[in-house]
Amino acid sequence: MNILFLSSEVQGLLKTGGLADVARALPKQLKQSGHDIRVVMPCYRSLLGKNFPVVLPTLIVPLTPTDNYYCTVRQTTLDDVPVYLIEHNHFFGRHGIYDDGEQGYHDNALRFAFLSKAALELSRALDFQPDLVQANDWQTAIASYYLKHHYSYDDFFANTGSVLTVHNGSYQGKCSGDLRYALGIAPEHMQAQAFEDWGQINLLKGGLYFTDKANAVSPGYREELRQESTGHGLHMAFTAKGEDLVGILNGCDYGEWNPATDPALPFHYDADNLTGKKQVKLALQQELGLTSDANLPLFANISRLTGQKGFQMLVPALYDLVNQGVQVVLLGSGELSYALQLQEIARRFPDNVRFIYGYDEALSHRIEAASDFFMMPSVFEPCGLNQIYSLRYGSLPIVRATGGLIDTVEALAVDESNKDKATGLSFEGFNFHDLAWTLKRAEWIWYNNPELYLQMQQQAMAQSFTWQSACEQYQQLYKAAILKACGLA
Ligand code: ADP
Ligand code: GLC
Repeated sequence: MNILFLSSEVQGLLKTGGLADVARALPKQLKQSGHDIRVVMPCYRSLLGKNFPVVLPTLIVPLTPTDNYYCTVRQTTLDDVPVYLIEHNHFFGRHGIYDDGEQGYHDNALRFAFLSKAALELSRALDFQPDLVQANDWQTAIASYYLKHHYSYDDFFANTGSVLTVHNGSYQGKCSGDLRYALGIAPEHMQAQAFEDWGQINLLKGGLYFTDKANAVSPGYREELRQESTGHGLHMAFTAKGEDLVGILNGCDYGEWNPATDPALPFHYDADNLTGKKQVKLALQQELGLTSDANLPLFANISRLTGQKGFQMLVPALYDLVNQGVQVVLLGSGELSYALQLQEIARRFPDNVRFIYGYDEALSHRIEAASDFFMMPSVFEPCGLNQIYSLRYGSLPIVRATGGLIDTVEALAVDESNKDKATGLSFEGFNFHDLAWTLKRAEWIWYNNPELYLQMQQQAMAQSFTWQSACEQYQQLYKAAILKACGLA
């Protein structure tokens, strides 16, 4: 198949979260499965300096019959996959990606609608006729609409199917209804089942309506999207998709995340020989100025600092947990209010807690390897990748039972009846007491039942969530989308 893959971020070029990991690993796997896949993303400011070669000096992008935008297209290659970078300095040459550090850019809808349209125009300019266009999240969701309604006259896209992957339904690309014309949305498509959302435009909702098929990034999240309490206000739109909305669990790129070969680690290890893990832990403790002692349990968290990740529970629970017997390492970037709260904990417990404010990929690998427990008390989690990395790195995940976290972590039952397959701990309630209790339980297991800890660690490291398996499911979904687009299903 010819696949055009649209994403606002791609690991290795620009990453703010797991979407970038997926936009790198899934195309890589599809390429290996024999498909011709091309990725399109913005040429952000940080990428301009890299001087990637220009493949199209001028691409004309008509968003409406009267609004033509002009851009340049650069290209690079990742894992044998061509990645096209849409260069438009007014839209993408800014300091931030989605926001200025405090607020989302006021023209985000226009910026990313432009990206979506540019990708389609680019495929025509390159004579790359896509069998399938895959959009990811609200940023590129409108691509399915453009395919169906802006190019309905065009034989080039006559048999092109569309898939929308929902990585995070809480971000929806809402903007004023006044932007309807600028975004090229026809008046008849501003109805409640399409783009209209209480008078505003909702790009995710509209894209969902027009896409042939859609998927959530885990089966659990697919179900949650359809429930009123967890559907981010769009449960009716998700439910209306019926079987056209499926759940496909993300994979893990074990080439990238393998403690036996990871170039970011000073020492290596695997499930058969964990000496290297101890050494990485001692090295990290030293690097961060913590007591170097492999016997102290190290609890870690690496995260975007945002409400989704449960800091409103984690902060008070940490005050409960921290004592002389545990160490805590936190790495995060994002909302300042959470950063200040984490910084305050680190200030109060200088012997036991470190908070690193920032985004640091190499450090994130070292923390995964050095830690004994990985905390992920998410309010909701569409899939979550960090707990999957933690499993492979032998750092037992402590998760809230939600979305993809349920699908990937086998939580130890209170009576330990499933200890022969348990890979982590979980709690259900949306309150800090349950989390605090679970953190204490982890500490208790570490000190009082090390055999159980080691057994769970072995079970965790043996887990495998491969992209091969996810890729097969995506291929099925693509085929179904193409049949639908061709009017055959
Ligand atoms: P989300 O996409 O919601 O942020 P995921 O768990 O799917 O959550 O993916 C997060 C990804 O971003 C992981 O690869 C994680 O290691 C990485 N990450 C998040 N915050 C940081 C940070 N401050 N420094 C380095 N990597 C980070
Ligand atoms: C989103 C979700 C996260 C998921 C990632 C990749 O950012 O928050 O749970 O793992 O996308 O699909």
